[in-house]
Amino acid sequence: PLDIPSHVAKWAALHIINRIKAFRPTADQPFVLGLPTGGTPVETYKLLIEHYKAGNISFKNVVTFNMDEYVNLPKEHPESYYSFMHKHFFEHIDIPRENINLLDGNAKCIKTECESYEAKMKQYGGVHLFMGGVGNDGHIAFNEPASSLASRTREQALTEETRIANSRFFNNDVNQVPKSALTVGIATLMEAKEIMVLATGRQKALAVQAAVEGNVNHLWTISCLQLHPNAIIVCDEPAVMEL
Ligand code: GLP
Repeated sequence: PLDIPSHVAKWAALHIINRIKAFRPTADQPFVLGLPTGGTPVETYKLLIEHYKAGNISFKNVVTFNMDEYVNLPKEHPESYYSFMHKHFFEHIDIPRENINLLDGNAKCIKTECESYEAKMKQYGGVHLFMGGVGNDGHIAFNEPASSLASRTREQALTEETRIANSRFFNNDVNQVPKSALTVGIATLMEAKEIMVLATGRQKALAVQAAVEGNVNHLWTISCLQLHPNAIIVCDEPAVMEL
């Protein structure tokens, strides 16, 4: 644990930069980075942009896969994860547009969309580093409580708790929050070579406890990290108060 959220962001941004640099990516062998949305990673994205502008890092040979996207929310909606990622990250860096992968929550055939997303990840040889956040109830990506630990990319109904938590982005009106989302599965995440989860604030303390000290179980899907050989939780002091 670090003292404050800005230290978490600093650590996370430097970790990503170090991993990309150490990999020495090329157009033929890009670094594959999994990315989250939510309030927590915003500061990390800001720092990555600063480092890019300072000439410390290039994203030209980085391919990204986002974790999730709302279903039936227009792509142009300010709260779609497509909009979020472009606004907070992609439009400020040198990543080629064709290297950006986001699930399409408006796809005609959800099954095909999810399967081709997974197939594309495999084509690149899998994800090198998946950065994630965690929901108050311990969900990672949109793998809500009771998601199978063997789950793959699919449509997932959102719990009332998640919809209430995310209503802060929808005029505090839970009725405006989509009822389901497309999300990578737990098994999809577990195939990444490395997972780094950011958790800040006391509202994440139970999730961090479940991730570190609880049983591995499908009610707190973040507990899957215990089975991953290379997972890190970067958090602040309030987030570890239940440990
Ligand atoms: C949403 C996202 C998750 C994210 C979680 C926590 O549910 N689908 O990927 O980790 O929110 O968000 P925040 O960082 O805003 O607490």
